[in-house]
Amino acid sequence: MKLIIAITFALLASAFGQDIILRSGQSGQFPNFPYCLCKPTGAYRLDSTVTFKGNSTYCFKVRVSIPANCSDYCCKQADLKKLEINVKPTCNVAGVVLTATLNGAPASINPNFELAPQGPLNSTIVKITQLGLNLSNADGAEICLTLGTNRGGKGCTTLEDLCVPPAGAPPGVCSTALFSSNNNCCPTTDVNNAIPPAAPPQGPLEQSVRICVTCVNFTLSSGPGIIPYNFTPAQCSAYAKAVAAGFLNAAFQASTEIFQNFTLEVCSGRVVSVCGKFEDYKGALVAPYADALASEFLSLVVPGGAPPPYLLGHTILVTISSEKSNERIGRRLLQTSMYECPVAERSIPLAPSNVSFPKCICNTTQGVMPFATLPFYTTKTGVSKGSKQYCFTFTRITPLSGPCANTNFAKVEFWANDTAPVRRGLKGFYVRSATQTAFTFLSPTWSVSGDQTVRATGLDWNQQQANGAEICMELDNSVSLDAFCLGPYSMGCYVNIFDKSKNCCPLYTAIDAPFVP
Ligand SMILES: *[C@@H]1O[C@H](CO)[C@@H](O)[C@H](O)[C@H]1NC(C)=O
Ligand SMILES: *[C@@H]1O[C@H](CO)[C@@H](O)[C@H](O)[C@H]1NC(C)=O
Ligand SMILES: *[C@@H]1O[C@H](CO)[C@@H](O)[C@H](O)[C@H]1NC(C)=O
Ligand SMILES: *[C@@H]1O[C@H](CO)[C@@H](O)[C@H](O)[C@H]1NC(C)=O
Ligand SMILES: *[C@@H]1O[C@H](CO)[C@@H](O)[C@H](O)[C@H]1NC(C)=O
Ligand SMILES: *[C@@H]1O[C@H](CO)[C@@H](O)[C@H](O)[C@H]1NC(C)=O
Ligand SMILES: *[C@@H]1O[C@H](CO)[C@@H](O)[C@H](O)[C@H]1NC(C)=O
Ligand SMILES: *[C@@H]1O[C@H](CO)[C@@H](O)[C@H](O)[C@H]1NC(C)=O
Ligand SMILES: *[C@@H]1O[C@H](CO)[C@@H](O)[C@H](O)[C@H]1NC(C)=O
Repeated sequence: MKLIIAITFALLASAFGQDIILRSGQSGQFPNFPYCLCKPTGAYRLDSTVTFKGNSTYCFKVRVSIPANCSDYCCKQADLKKLEINVKPTCNVAGVVLTATLNGAPASINPNFELAPQGPLNSTIVKITQLGLNLSNADGAEICLTLGTNRGGKGCTTLEDLCVPPAGAPPGVCSTALFSSNNNCCPTTDVNNAIPPAAPPQGPLEQSVRICVTCVNFTLSSGPGIIPYNFTPAQCSAYAKAVAAGFLNAAFQASTEIFQNFTLEVCSGRVVSVCGKFEDYKGALVAPYADALASEFLSLVVPGGAPPPYLLGHTILVTISSEKSNERIGRRLLQTSMYECPVAERSIPLAPSNVSFPKCICNTTQGVMPFATLPFYTTKTGVSKGSKQYCFTFTRITPLSGPCANTNFAKVEFWANDTAPVRRGLKGFYVRSATQTAFTFLSPTWSVSGDQTVRATGLDWNQQQANGAEICMELDNSVSLDAFCLGPYSMGCYVNIFDKSKNCCPLYTAIDAPFVP
């Protein structure tokens, strides 16, 4: 039946000579944003400057601004129901939660990603609807959009990442449309992520001969008992790309230019350094944007929403620092340069989040026992047909001093959905201590129903046996890891290590992969 409809539709489509894309349901009728038939002028527009408020939050200011000579419905009567933004299809990943506020109050409906029904294949918009604005209350209204990731950390967290810039514009410029309830009016505005410069540079700007060598450093530090995280090469290059785009955008807004684009200089695990150059009087024009840029760069590492579990216990520092060199690039040699190069600093300490697991009272602090769970699990095909294994690896660490510091590895508990159909998806555990090569099957032990706890017990590994040990959870393919493991992370499981006394139970989270913006 479906096939017949599809064929009929295909014939119709080709009969009309249109390139109708059946797979996605996008008709391709309107190649350009806002991807529909509507009047691009009307009573409303957005301020061309978007304000970044930290935490991946960007605010748009609405203006009532009726073009001269326009007296039709769109200019004189239309209301303002929704805001649409032209965004990259790659940002539309499952599970991303966007939020919005209107004049500081949560929007009545959360914004969402949508494929534009009449746009070309994959053309995507973010829609903020049910604004309820009209000619009398729209002027000055502020709509703020908070970008986030899904619980696995995937998603776009800056406007540079999110928006499809209009032709010729740099990253960070967004095309927007403001729709009336009947969708007939859609005045469009190109907006730009900008913070008004804090203080304009002093004195007249004139060409001097010095160069600002400006570096953005991402630095990780962690306290005792925490497995130190290292940035991956993929993260380094993604951060470098975003830094380059961020500075190009800032230079564009300051109506100036970069002397040498930002590129990755150091990717050492704990430090990522991305450097570029400005002629000093031009760097001075970009300097007022440095604070806002540093906040944006921080949200590349720690996106809005649940912070990545592998960074808990770490402090993330983003610095923008500049050195002045005497490279010769101009004719005049000034004794001293009065120009300030971009400088800023932002940091955030990430404490473990509070969750209602485990259900017993014990010390859940990471690092109390001499063992930890590695932050990423591996997967492999299961032993039983149609199943998959999620393998958690354990390592020895130097523990915090205290009563748990000299304990053995007795068992592990997982926070899991214990309702019948989900629970039946767990085939069992396959475990291997560091001193064994073969895996042994271990039947799962569920706590009383409602405790949402399943354990792999009777392990009793000493430090040597635990250091590199693996516990693989075998799940039937009919049950996804997201359905099985509970907690705020998608593709993540809470893994609770216990000693024999059950007083010590450091709690870890393992996810599939690090967040690459
Ligand atoms: C960001 O979010 C955190 C936690 O939700 C909050 O404590 C902090 O004040 C926010 N920062 C800004 C700049 O809004
Ligand atoms: C307004 O309309 C008049 C007459 O149609 C035209 O000459 C004028 O250029 C228009 N002004 C604008 C701003 O469109
Ligand atoms: C559309 O998106 C799909 C899935 O992300 C991708 O495989 C495909 O290449 C995209 N097509 C175009 C024309 O961008
Ligand atoms: C605009 O909306 C407000 C609140 O919904 C309403 O009280 C007001 O009458 C509306 N004004 C117009 C001109 O429609
Ligand atoms: C940034 O990193 C580079 C390379 O590691 C280093 O030379 C520089 O001193 C760092 N700057 C700051 C302010 O930490
Ligand atoms: C920097 O990169 C942008 C975009 O790739 C390019 O347009 C520009 O010419 C580059 N600037 C310099 C100085 O290389
Ligand atoms: C965590 O939750 C407990 C109990 O609900 C509460 O007492 C404590 O203040 C919370 N800690 C944080 C950091 O939110
Ligand atoms: C857990 O143990 C650590 C290290 O011994 C200690 O600092 C912390 O206070 C303990 N926490 C609780 C809740 O007992
Ligand atoms: C457990 O799974 C069931 C069935 O899929 C679902 O209805 C329930 O909401 C889940 N429980 C939790 C705590 O997520």
